[in-house]
Amino acid sequence: MKKVITYGTYDLLHYGHIRLLERAKALGDYLIVGITSDDYDKTRGKINVQQCLAERIEAVKETGLADMIIVEEYEGQKIDDIRRYGVDIFTLGSDWEGKFDYLKEYCEVVYLPRTEGVSSSEIRSEQGYLRLGLVGDSASYFSKIQGEDKYVNGVEIVGICTNNIEKMSEEIKKLPVVTNNYDELLDNVDAIYIKSMFDERYEMIKKALSKGKSVLCGNPIAFSEKQCASLFKLAEKNNCVLMEGIRTAYSTAYERLLLLIKAGKIGRVMSIDATCTSMVRSDPDNYYSMYEWGNNALLPVFQILGTEYKKKDIITHKENGDLFTRIYFIYDKACATITAAEGAKSEGELVICGTKGYIYVPAPWWKTDYFEVRYENQSENKRYFYQLDGEGIRYALVAFCRSVKNKKNYSYVDKKVSLEICHIMEDFNNNIDVIEI
Ligand code: CTP
Repeated sequence: MKKVITYGTYDLLHYGHIRLLERAKALGDYLIVGITSDDYDKTRGKINVQQCLAERIEAVKETGLADMIIVEEYEGQKIDDIRRYGVDIFTLGSDWEGKFDYLKEYCEVVYLPRTEGVSSSEIRSEQGYLRLGLVGDSASYFSKIQGEDKYVNGVEIVGICTNNIEKMSEEIKKLPVVTNNYDELLDNVDAIYIKSMFDERYEMIKKALSKGKSVLCGNPIAFSEKQCASLFKLAEKNNCVLMEGIRTAYSTAYERLLLLIKAGKIGRVMSIDATCTSMVRSDPDNYYSMYEWGNNALLPVFQILGTEYKKKDIITHKENGDLFTRIYFIYDKACATITAAEGAKSEGELVICGTKGYIYVPAPWWKTDYFEVRYENQSENKRYFYQLDGEGIRYALVAFCRSVKNKKNYSYVDKKVSLEICHIMEDFNNNIDVIEI
């Protein structure tokens, strides 16, 4: 009996897949189909897959062409599978031509011509196309964003509204719409991504939402809880999405860390200490420790301990803005500190203390791909690593796009958390619970 094996994601199964499976089957007597797991796809940069593994398996099963279905979970697994199942022929579409020749040591390798004119990526794009406009003056940040849309099916950055065009990259200068007129940008896009523009942010978001444009926003969304709530309300009324773009929330490692805590891995959480500092300033004339870093540091505190703290003290040093800020939170049976600085430096780590053990995320924890769960008995310690591409921006874009297309908010940041972050900003600006040093 001749055994054939082939692999793929098989997202939104199409006739290109079916033709491939038919021809693969015809190469032998028994066909094994390896379907990539969700995590494995993420690590190899496929972050857009619409269907979960169970759905993709079901779709391949329904073709009736596979004699056996296996899940591909790790790099290098193909060699293991070929040996384990006694495979005679390994086959894939011609888009992979030459890439798997190293398997010839183990079995015959056949590349089958790919069916022209269809792919999962195209189908995903056709499900909805989103024209995204950038708003803000941060040249360094936008140069990171530019190009990220390539990884997200169905979204394209088509324009920018900025007062800082000279400093922007050449790619950004070449976008179809480059303007300092906000209305002009809004008229040419379906959604916007606002970064910086702290003073004008609220009015700008309000205007975009009023015109039916969805908004992905650098944090915080607004500088008072009331303003934030009114923007969420407006978004809902106009059937738009308003999403807080805290990149950290979208990194797989951070997401998994939250799940491990929920699953009780470190017991009851007693304290959280989050530090975010940078010597690089967003504005050469002013310090913005709270605006630039404070909200990011607040994220794990509110996501893990909730927003119902009993007391807070905001300690800050002001000098052309706020250079250094630390906040102490007292909860019912826990406490937390956040430290934010622009123009002062400390170890940018996150430590979450629990009654069974603790989680340690090394600096810079806010763009994390790695963390450790540590115990008194060190032999029980565990290390976790999850690939983070594009510093998390593309993952936030995927969630935003999905939300806009499905008219449903898939934000990883709960509205309650966004509101409380704005509340803290409001108190900070109004000197409530603030001690100046
Ligand atoms: N395939 C094919 N013809 C197509 C699309 C895919 O022969 N038009 C083959 C691929 O070469 C591969 C298998 O089907 O051997 C599974 O491919 P997969 O990556 O799941 O599908 P794509 O449509 O290429 O997905 P994507 O657009 O996400 O890359």
